[in-house]
Amino acid sequence: MHEIAIKITINDEIIEKDIKANVLLIDFLRDELNLTGSHIGCDTSQCGACMILHNDKAIKACSILVAQLNGEKITTIENLQKDGVLHPMQEAFRNNHGLQCGFCTPGMIISGISLVKQNDKPNEDNIRKHLEGNLCRCTGYQNIVKSIEEGAIKMRESGDI
Ligand code: FES
Ligand code: FES
Repeated sequence: MHEIAIKITINDEIIEKDIKANVLLIDFLRDELNLTGSHIGCDTSQCGACMILHNDKAIKACSILVAQLNGEKITTIENLQKDGVLHPMQEAFRNNHGLQCGFCTPGMIISGISLVKQNDKPNEDNIRKHLEGNLCRCTGYQNIVKSIEEGAIKMRESGDI
């Protein structure tokens, strides 16, 4: 496989590298950059544990090549907190016990932020529909929904919408 030169901004840092054209973003993040907060929970693009933000939209890092994001800017779960202060959506998950084992949580938080960026007053139905691309084996979703409801309020209050 031939290599291509990529330039991509990840978590506000410009990364320039020669990489194989077939490298998946999730493998690049985890194996090359040691950004292991994005998880691999399936091999069928169904679980959403790998989600990252691109232009305020959640995308599945297991389903896109690094080369496809050449010149683009992305944010991973590692860059949501600032100076030790959690992102409002992270804070809401903590307040509402929106996790148990935590495996799905990075993707849920990214997905929640993405929803609020599109709809800053999501109701329960909006949230449940939006989470169709995120699977959780532990929680039964109730507290995740509550977390995103509170996260939306906190994001509005903080002006992060
Ligand atoms: S690892 Fe990406 S959807 Fe499951
Ligand atoms: S909290 Fe365990 S998979 Fe969601």
